[in-house]
Amino acid sequence: MSDAPSPAATIRERVDLTDSLALFRFELENGIPDYAAGQYLTLGLPHPDKPGKILWRPYSISSPPERKDLMELYIRWARSPVPGKFTTLLWPLKIGDQLAYKDPKGAFSIEHQRPDGGPETRRMVLMGGGTGIAPFMAYIQHLRKLGTTRQIVVCHGASYVEELGYREELLEWQRESVACGRKGWDFHYLATVSRPKEPANAGWDGPGGRVESLVQPAADGGPSPAEVVVGERFTTANTSFYICGFDGTVQSVKAAVESRDFRTKKEAREDGGYDIKFESYG
Ligand SMILES: Cc1cc2nc3c(=O)[nH]c(=O)nc-3n(C[C@H](O)[C@H](O)[C@H](O)COP(=O)(O)OP(=O)(O)OC[C@H]3O[C@@H](n4cnc5c(N)ncnc54)[C@H](O)[C@@H]3O)c2cc1C
Ligand SMILES: NC(=O)c1ccc[n+]([C@@H]2O[C@H](COP(=O)([O-])OP(=O)(O)OC[C@H]3O[C@@H](n4cnc5c(N)ncnc54)[C@H](OP(=O)(O)O)[C@@H]3O)[C@@H](O)[C@H]2O)c1
Repeated sequence: MSDAPSPAATIRERVDLTDSLALFRFELENGIPDYAAGQYLTLGLPHPDKPGKILWRPYSISSPPERKDLMELYIRWARSPVPGKFTTLLWPLKIGDQLAYKDPKGAFSIEHQRPDGGPETRRMVLMGGGTGIAPFMAYIQHLRKLGTTRQIVVCHGASYVEELGYREELLEWQRESVACGRKGWDFHYLATVSRPKEPANAGWDGPGGRVESLVQPAADGGPSPAEVVVGERFTTANTSFYICGFDGTVQSVKAAVESRDFRTKKEAREDGGYDIKFESYG
């Protein structure tokens, strides 16, 4: 019997941003299935402690569903306080190495419809902490393909500048938006580093603080940095939030906007409407 995983995800490309943050691009044995932007792929490796068993972990897909050659994931090697079981096995793998996989799943997808069946047109504020930017890369590229006219505001926070993954693509999409006068493609990108005083962030002249600080009102109750950029206060009539990252990030973003009646699906209004979708680990 062959030891090859089945079905197999083969690493075809790997881009290391730092020694513990990388993009992996996989060829899938059964081809890339249809999936919704925002879903995750589950990867498996032989379990380090249980012979004959597979250790599975979910990873958000950062490539859009329209991409059918390779599927991209954005992964951190969890090293502290103890080496993560799965990512420590994944990190030494090279081009051509194979893992097992399970097809995409998950409900962290874009809401395209209002509860009354009409199209959802509110701006999307995408709040990503660290690798939590991954599902939003799939959203954005998918929405570009669809020719969306919804305003997209991406807020990305990382500890260090070098961990602001996808920064070049995000800046380019913002430049394109400016170049077309924000007609048709209305895209804003804000980035912040949460350890601004550390030497590795020397030279960063952007905002300091965790990603939630970009949507927290100013000390005097004035607009948040993201509201300043778009020139409008966020209300439930004009804005929906999508949050991905640590549970602390989800809770802090919710706390920043809940006084304005922004709600999750659990707290939906009588008509079924809500304004915040999130996915966190923990
Ligand atoms: C829907 C979903 C999507 C996800 N998408 C992504 C993604 O796109 N990119 C990404 O990088 N991750 C993503 N994750 C997280 C990913 O699934 C794994 O949880 C992550 O890679 C860590 O797995 P691991 O086996 O290496 O670490 P684990 O062994 O599971 O350990 C997890 C953490 O706990 C710590 N830990 C372990 N044991 C102990 C202990 N005894 N005491 C104290 N601390 C301990 C480890 O140091 C580590 O930081 C996602 C999670 C979910 C639920
Ligand atoms: N679809 C998903 O569910 C999905 C997808 C991708 C990632 N994730 C999860 O998202 C998290 C981010 O992972 P990462 O390794 O990329 O993060 P990271 O780089 O270690 O941290 C990213 C940012 O989050 C901040 N942060 C750290 N701990 C926090 C807390 N308890 N509350 C609020 N903010 C905190 C960091 O601030 P400091 O500099 O102050 O530490 C940093 O600004 C992980 O839990 C990961 O598993 C989930």
